[in-house]
Amino acid sequence: DKLVALVPAAGIGRRMGADKPKQYLPLTEHCILGETLARLLAHPAISEVVVALAAEDPYFDDLAQASHPKLRTVIGGDERADSVLACLAAVNPDIAPWVLVHDAARPLITAGDIDAVVKAARAGQGAILAAPLVDTIKWSQDGKRIEETVPRQHLWRALTPQCFPTGALRLALSEALAEGASITDEASAMERLGWPVTLVKGRNDNIKITEPADLPLARWLLSQQES
Ligand code: C5P
Repeated sequence: DKLVALVPAAGIGRRMGADKPKQYLPLTEHCILGETLARLLAHPAISEVVVALAAEDPYFDDLAQASHPKLRTVIGGDERADSVLACLAAVNPDIAPWVLVHDAARPLITAGDIDAVVKAARAGQGAILAAPLVDTIKWSQDGKRIEETVPRQHLWRALTPQCFPTGALRLALSEALAEGASITDEASAMERLGWPVTLVKGRNDNIKITEPADLPLARWLLSQQES
């Protein structure tokens, strides 16, 4: 059976404050999205990559990966979950029973991390890459005064890729959107329906490029991966 990768890349990346969506900012010889796609397309277990783009995206066709035979594009939606659902509509669950959702903004993904999350997902009913917290966590209602310190022992940061059965993810995301639930990753939609999702400790360099300072950091992390 086949594994399809879904890449939501329809966001505008407001926090980056750049003149184009962050996924198109230069990173290596590729832009951020190009590097992410190159890595997913090169993985032998991934048979197809479906990318969700903004409706009138003028940048995508310039990517070196744009006409790759394993690549398809769809038009994304208002929220990340809408964009992932748009990708899912292009996947036949009978042919590809598992999907791997990966942020466009995480170009440092490695084959080893992909293999680990897919293996854990297939051993159960779904899995995500995640990282234990290293900072002490404060809770504040108003963003000024600390109400309390939240024990970090059981807290994890959700990364991507996240790997789930195709049909179940489609159902979970549709229900979450219909009920107006706030969904910032795929696992949260599965959790709402009581599906067990396995945590897989990911690499520390699998950062999500969000702010301007993340670009030089990502380039340095890339140079460390190569050496
Ligand atoms: O904003 P954030 O960094 O959490 O976005 C994560 C990913 O979801 C990005 O790759 C972004 O392009 C994508 N996204 C999308 N459609 C939206 C909003 C975000 O595909 N409507």
